[in-house]
Amino acid sequence: MDEQNAKNRIEELTNQLNEHNYNYYVLNQPVIGDFEFDMMLKELEQLEAEFPEFADANSPTKRVGSDLSNDFEQVVHQYQMLSLANAYSEGEVADFDNRIRKVIETAFDYVCELKFDGSSISLIYENGELVRAITRGDGEKGDDVTANVRTIRSIPLKLRGNDYPAHFEIRGEIVMPFAVFKALNTELEKAGEQLLANPRNTAAGTLKMKNSKIVASRKLDAYFYYLPGDNVTINGHFESLKKAGEWGFKTSEHTRLCKNLDEVFEFLKYWNEARVNLPVATDGVVIKVNSKKLQENLGFTAKSPRWAIAYKFKAENVATTLLSVSYQVGRTGAVTPVANLEPVLIAGTMVKRASLHNADIIANLDLHENDTVFVEKGGEIIPKITGVDVSKRHPMFQKIKFIEKCPECGTPLIRIEGEAAFYCPNEDECPPQIKGKMEHFVGRKAMDLDGLGEETIDLLYSIGLIRSIADLFKLKKEQLAQLERMGEKSAERILSGIETAKSVPFERVLFSLGIRFVGETVAKTLARKLHTIDVIQSQTIEQLTEIEEIGPRIAESVVDWFAKPKHNEMIAQLKESGLLFTVSEGSIISETDKLKGLNIVISGTFEQHSRDELKNLIEQNGGKNVGSISKKTHYILAGENMGPSKLEKAKELGIRIISEDEFLKMLE
Ligand code: IVH
Repeated sequence: MDEQNAKNRIEELTNQLNEHNYNYYVLNQPVIGDFEFDMMLKELEQLEAEFPEFADANSPTKRVGSDLSNDFEQVVHQYQMLSLANAYSEGEVADFDNRIRKVIETAFDYVCELKFDGSSISLIYENGELVRAITRGDGEKGDDVTANVRTIRSIPLKLRGNDYPAHFEIRGEIVMPFAVFKALNTELEKAGEQLLANPRNTAAGTLKMKNSKIVASRKLDAYFYYLPGDNVTINGHFESLKKAGEWGFKTSEHTRLCKNLDEVFEFLKYWNEARVNLPVATDGVVIKVNSKKLQENLGFTAKSPRWAIAYKFKAENVATTLLSVSYQVGRTGAVTPVANLEPVLIAGTMVKRASLHNADIIANLDLHENDTVFVEKGGEIIPKITGVDVSKRHPMFQKIKFIEKCPECGTPLIRIEGEAAFYCPNEDECPPQIKGKMEHFVGRKAMDLDGLGEETIDLLYSIGLIRSIADLFKLKKEQLAQLERMGEKSAERILSGIETAKSVPFERVLFSLGIRFVGETVAKTLARKLHTIDVIQSQTIEQLTEIEEIGPRIAESVVDWFAKPKHNEMIAQLKESGLLFTVSEGSIISETDKLKGLNIVISGTFEQHSRDELKNLIEQNGGKNVGSISKKTHYILAGENMGPSKLEKAKELGIRIISEDEFLKMLE
């Protein structure tokens, strides 16, 4: 085939495949069979391989994803992704209506839509082609997940028709249909792996996967419900959604235009019941003022639009039997009671356990063994017990009594004044607490010890090879290589990880020790002000609280920790193993106030320093490294490949952009 013919055929196949995709995944009305579709796709793949110059980033062949590792660049949203105010009753919806009628005196319509329970997404289209897909993130900036989103068949890569704006944004919800979720869990169950909690989290997790091929296999779907900005000039929101449908987006067929509040209530009543028959999870109804002009008049609060509200469905409430209560001891020693239940199906997932949170909850419910309990699964992942059917209680049922001793080590539990939880105070000998501290110690933000995860620690602990953090540094290759499921390679990896731990800077070592209330920032402050562990150890509560940012609660915790001989012994052993317990000279000398009061955003990649090094330099010189650009940002330290939307936002707010060289000059 010559070039011209290939180009034409590629175009023809692309258009036909896009059309069939739309018929199948958006309209649910396929007009050809799977086999025919696959043959066309194969032909296109072959042509693209032969003539790569005509292969398009938005070709239907890209829907299968790739094994290349995704990198999620952070992108600032052009329009902030706000949330919605919630209403839990018709009364609260009526209040919302009254608030609006105070501002708008003319007649207006509402649009009622299902509130899809998934992961929100913002898509940018340029000249009819998908160019970027960004997650909600913190509302201001999100992750660029375009490669993964391209695999979702119901999302158009090229738009249909010709009356779409040259540049626009559309928002929607990525969901995992119940049927797909169930099939996935059946597979996991067969493989003996841990089951997924619910479709929403699974959709969100899938969207962030590094391998887009797996994303493609997960069969996600998406519904679209909002076109922010004024590039789309249609005044009615309802009409603009209809238009979006014509361009190829999946919009909900259940969206209704309502003339008054009564019609809105009818919609709420209907879907309160009917939602259980939908193929995807929904958690409410979104009610929006239809006219975009009126929406503009109403505007936004800091958190949400004044022209919309989310009516939340009442959580499904199911009765089941309480089989027993078990108790879990966490890393901090907090004891959490868990109810084991006769399994029941709620909101599409099988529920076997519910958290009881603490002793007060058990007492307030007046829980008895074998009680018939009401279990509710609301927005939160963990189901909760909301009540007891006392009429079903047999007089012989025994009251549930909260345990008095730690189920792991037998130590009598204590309750810290003002806190709801009971604690096991045996922090240095209670197995889950020791293991939890080790997991924290090896974690990425702590010592970042390669090859040592929860499972390996569990194993090493259970066979008695490690009893404290210090024992990690005494591990020998022969000991590790003998373990089940551990080859020589893994053993070497662990040992070389342990070796590199000896150059981890003091502030991170300090954080890794897991002293209560000494997080990353506090550890940095202590290291910077006091320089060595010996000085920190010799401080009184009064001396510590003189340091800015160190309050009495932290000070007390530090002093208590060092008062324990066991901890001093451990520090001595770790010192002997070669860990750093003094800040490096370089960082003491370079500490200044040159950037005091300045908020600096780092963006892009740099030549002379890594981003972490630059962050440290900012902090060592009294500045603050902030994540996102706002009015409060003073400088943007920009390297190569700074995102275009960041640049735009910086210009809009008039923030100075400085290069790495300029920044380093500021510190001279
Ligand atoms: S409108 C500015 N419509 O709910 C308002 N949101 O709690 C834009 N959601 O972040 C949102 N279905 O992820 C809107 N039909 C719908 C929705 C919907 C689900 C999600 C969305 C949003 C969250 C707010």
